[in-house]
Amino acid sequence: MKTIFSGIQPSGSVTLGNYIGALKQFVDLQDEYNCYFCIVDQHAITVPQDRLALRKNIRSLAALYLAVGLDPEKVTLFIQSEVPAHAQAGWMLQCVSYIGELERMTQFKDKSHGKEAVSAGLLTYPPLMAADILLYNTDLVPVGEDQKQHLELTRDLAERFNKKYNDVLTIPEVRIPKVGARIMSLVDPTKKMSKSDANQKAFITLLDDPKQIEKKIKSAVTDSEGIVKYDKENKPGISNLLSIYSILTNESIEQIEAKYEGKGYGDFKTDVAEVVVNALKPIQDKYYQLMESDELDQILDKGAEKANAVASRTLKKMENAMGLGRKRK
Ligand code: TYM
Repeated sequence: MKTIFSGIQPSGSVTLGNYIGALKQFVDLQDEYNCYFCIVDQHAITVPQDRLALRKNIRSLAALYLAVGLDPEKVTLFIQSEVPAHAQAGWMLQCVSYIGELERMTQFKDKSHGKEAVSAGLLTYPPLMAADILLYNTDLVPVGEDQKQHLELTRDLAERFNKKYNDVLTIPEVRIPKVGARIMSLVDPTKKMSKSDANQKAFITLLDDPKQIEKKIKSAVTDSEGIVKYDKENKPGISNLLSIYSILTNESIEQIEAKYEGKGYGDFKTDVAEVVVNALKPIQDKYYQLMESDELDQILDKGAEKANAVASRTLKKMENAMGLGRKRK
């Protein structure tokens, strides 16, 4: 079985973008791959976090991973900071990274833009992400489109490490979904839907109630043409709603376009809201049930144990290759 690794930051609400671009893919892949899914809390602290909120978000994200349909018997679910090899390998990979290539990362540029105090961790975020992936001999990394550049850097770092030291790292491939790789903001459909958006109307979270969802979709920015048709360039708002509808119902874009021929945006938006509410209802039910139980801690303990065993083996190989410490078997 080939290996998959992916991670999500516990830095606030999980959005419909995270679900469609990442979580939904994970569920589809869990039967065919040996999967590691991580709550990347060490990545979250590259920007300021409230201690209590972070703890809460870690637990909430763990519950959501399971609520969307991941089976803890099939996948390894764990918290990054509970596997020390990530920070250790992250440091080693920082030492094979160049400052220039880290400064060119668009996520770094976006998150540091206009800020006076930018943490060093924000710059060295990508080598830590590379460590996450490379410690598990990962073949495939399912992510949304915004992570593509980080994946390219991960491959470069792994190739550089193998060439400079020893062939110990597996070079991973990226897997980006064909539809839904970039769900857009409901307020500005030329921008990615992001949990850090200051405007709450820009994103739907997996825990929004039906009323909130309806309100946000009804007020989603579209165009004045009045035709439900996919045209990303000229009709980004309607195209975004079409993608969401299509992914959540498995109906093709063409089928949906045909269904709304001659109908206005009002009818279409009402139905998109219904589709989203129906998709999130079972996830929310399962989520609240999990948050009440102590099942979560048992799953995370078992996940950390499994992840530690695999990650520490790769770490040892990396240390031997670089000449760190004493030679060990
Ligand atoms: P994060 O936490 O920002 O997002 C988690 C996942 O959701 C995807 N995503 C989207 N997909 C479609 N449309 C959107 N609007 C949208 N917004 C987010 C992201 O592409 C991602 O797949 N650096 C990563 C976390 C990470 C990681 C890793 C991922 C750390 N280590 C190792 C993979 C492998 C991040 O910030 O994702």
